[in-house]
Amino acid sequence: MTIQVDDAGWGDPVGGVFLGVFRVDTNEYVVKEIEVVHFQEPNFDNKTFLARGLELVLEAFNCLGVTLDEPIQVCRGVVLDGVREGLNAKGYEVIPTKIEGQLQELVEANFVESLRQMGIRDIPRVSGKERFFRQLEWIQDDLEHRERYAKTGWKNWPTKLRNWRPKWRRKHRASLKPPIIIKLGGSVISDKTQRSTPRIETIQQLISEIVAIESHPVVVIHGGGSFGHFLAKDYQLRKGGRSQEKKIGVTKTASEMTRLGHLIHGAFLKTGRPAVPIRSSSIIVAIDGRISHMDLQALREFLRQRFIPILSGDVVADTVRGFTIVSGDQIAMYLARLLHSKQVVFATDVDGLYSADPKEHPDAKRIDLITPDTLDVIFNEIAVGASSEAADVTEGMRGKLDEIFKGLPDDCEVLITDIRQPGTLEKIIHGRPVPATHLRQHS
Ligand code: IPE
Repeated sequence: MTIQVDDAGWGDPVGGVFLGVFRVDTNEYVVKEIEVVHFQEPNFDNKTFLARGLELVLEAFNCLGVTLDEPIQVCRGVVLDGVREGLNAKGYEVIPTKIEGQLQELVEANFVESLRQMGIRDIPRVSGKERFFRQLEWIQDDLEHRERYAKTGWKNWPTKLRNWRPKWRRKHRASLKPPIIIKLGGSVISDKTQRSTPRIETIQQLISEIVAIESHPVVVIHGGGSFGHFLAKDYQLRKGGRSQEKKIGVTKTASEMTRLGHLIHGAFLKTGRPAVPIRSSSIIVAIDGRISHMDLQALREFLRQRFIPILSGDVVADTVRGFTIVSGDQIAMYLARLLHSKQVVFATDVDGLYSADPKEHPDAKRIDLITPDTLDVIFNEIAVGASSEAADVTEGMRGKLDEIFKGLPDDCEVLITDIRQPGTLEKIIHGRPVPATHLRQHS
């Protein structure tokens, strides 16, 4: 009886390559997958997929009880070079051929189903341009987390495909200028040593500076400060959980964050500039503590209409932990990437990071620039200007910097500074120097 071997997914940027083995006369069928790691470096360069393919086909043969007297028709694709060679060496009669019909459909269908299960919607059954670009689009929607599912070993992955933008998105971008993202640190807008204690005047001062920016769209994200962190710590919310008690902790934290958000929104209201709160927990889903999905449709639409969207660090649903805390920092960097922002400003109560606490050591030096290369060295030396005694479930300044660098696009700059001084923000936007710590991927 004739056996056929065919592959699917070789030309698709997402997922591994599926191998189908089919006994034509009986319709018996076994499918296997050469895992995507074989199409990533260094494996792809070493062509480990050839040996893996043979291994899997032999496993399938074993399942089907294929014997040496059965002719084997193997598809001509490169991915099956190792299979053809290996089967020949084992004494099988190998016939390179173009596989069409039932097997081809089966193995393509299995491959497409695997893409669907990953969450790629509207994926065409037949391979081709549309299927290819749907996958790139899916990766682009969350490059940070989805790139690991891509065949990144392809030569044109780093040079071209990784940066690909669908046409509609190019149009989108043309009509939506990248916003400047401003994160208001919880210790500026609240007294972090006292539960739920806002700094009303400071909030108003900050918002007045922000609304003065008219030349650029702005997104504001505020931290939890003493409204979020005490409760998050009391109930250990970052770790998630399922108990009723924890859920009450979530409820209280969400309620306190609403209260803080209301104060911030109120400050905008006083200025007469249109601003709209967008609840982070309504648009974000996390996986094991990291943002896995953010629905930006409403935010983009409001930005286009020149509203200032206001988000915050928040307690959000987490598909592994039940719920978790995502910091405003993580949200800021995630948004910076998705919205192609060139500047992210972290507003604190000091004008940058210092070699020692500037309040106690007047000779402390500000660190003007940090890159991933200098992070370790600098970090051993610095003490952070902002008070660090206060309750804080985020992992301190080192954690914050790691968070920033994790999501920092190459063409984006982060400034850690105090924007309460009138005109500081305006200067930042126009590229004029201000006292600040700058964070960039390259010096
Ligand atoms: C924390 O957000 C949000 C909650 C605790 C609910 P952030 O981690 O961004 O807050 P700050 O800026 O450190 O206060």
